Amino acid sequence: KRILVLNGPNLNRLGTREPERYGRLTLADIGQRLDRAADGQGAALEHFQSNHEGEAIDRLHRAADEGIDGVLINPGAWTHTSVALRDALLAIDRPFVEIHLSNIHARESFRQHSYFSDVAVGSIVGLGALGYELALTALIAHLDAPSA
Ligand code: DQA
Repeated sequence: KRILVLNGPNLNRLGTREPERYGRLTLADIGQRLDRAADGQGAALEHFQSNHEGEAIDRLHRAADEGIDGVLINPGAWTHTSVALRDALLAIDRPFVEIHLSNIHARESFRQHSYFSDVAVGSIVGLGALGYELALTALIAHLDAPSA
């Protein structure tokens, strides 16, 4: 199975960005942990981070053309703003799991709506970097048995 791991804006600053909220691991650290977990579960990951919405949309289109099976996505602030990124995920018609390091439901009201949650396989929030690994396990299980 091939899975795209897509991280949105400002997540390239993990490690130093509000560490009390988002933790001290860098995005590279999280990516390495995920690669190890994926190895053990027979999946191969492709990693992509961008601060540019159009690039993220283009990357999703390309992933579909290349036959990717599913997507793990932390859309960052686009979670709360981007109909276009939601539409891209619907357009490529691949299952995806939404991840947030922080518990968006315990924060500002503008973070409590997600343009992704209702069309995601599921969402994991508030569990920090561990959330990425849990999301990977869940997405692989979904790919193996979509109706389970
Ligand atoms: C985030 C939550 C978003 O509200 C915020 O804009 C981020 C990170 C998270 O992982 O907790 O950039 O997606």
